Amino acid sequence: MVRIAPSLLAADFGDLRGQIALAEKGGADWIHVDVMDGHFVPNLTVGPVVVRAIRRSTALPLDVHLMIDNPDDFLEPFRSAGADVLTVHYEACPNLHRTLQRIRELGAKPGVSVNPATPASLLKEILPHVDLVLVMTVNPGFGAQQFIPTTLPKIGEVASMLRGVRRGVFVEVDGGIDRTTAPQVVRAGANVLVAGNFIFAAADIPAAVRALRESAEPPLMA
Ligand code: DX5
Ligand code: ZN
Repeated sequence: MVRIAPSLLAADFGDLRGQIALAEKGGADWIHVDVMDGHFVPNLTVGPVVVRAIRRSTALPLDVHLMIDNPDDFLEPFRSAGADVLTVHYEACPNLHRTLQRIRELGAKPGVSVNPATPASLLKEILPHVDLVLVMTVNPGFGAQQFIPTTLPKIGEVASMLRGVRRGVFVEVDGGIDRTTAPQVVRAGANVLVAGNFIFAAADIPAAVRALRESAEPPLMA
């Protein structure tokens, strides 16, 4: 089963509640929130205050993607604000195991993300400790970028490494996901699809969520 996680980065921030409601109407499974600090990535977005407001707007799981340096300093505030999944970047965590343990202690699902230039093999030791692996399919920082096809074999590598270690770990992809790339990443082994532009730049947001799901899980032909 594929989960669809619309990324609010491409939504109308003047009407987050309304935008989330439209995504829900289309059958969104999670809401993806992109947190950027202007250091780890060259862009700034939202902090715990906005995550708290989003939390009040939906009962869906909040999938919080921390594209920040020193994430340890902010795990508790984001968890208290309502994050269900907290994903940190491999590249930002010198003591990754400790960071992931802390996320679990706080009662959230720990996720680890790798940038396009970071090899999957570096995750080997940490896989037993995560509930989600996020394979970035663009360089983090901005929406509406082009999917990087060399990430496809990496998704497959992560999925097969996980098979030997732990079942039920989510393999998430983020960046440039649309009706063309969704079936490719699912075939490679992804089961959580983040999509910003494809969903929130669409004229009909609920229809875009449904279209993405159908492209990833084509209905069985009668
Ligand atoms: C990029 C963010 C993404 C972004 C994806 O750094 O992590 O979640 O919103 O946007 P699209 O789907 O437009 O590529
Ligand atoms: Zn993201």
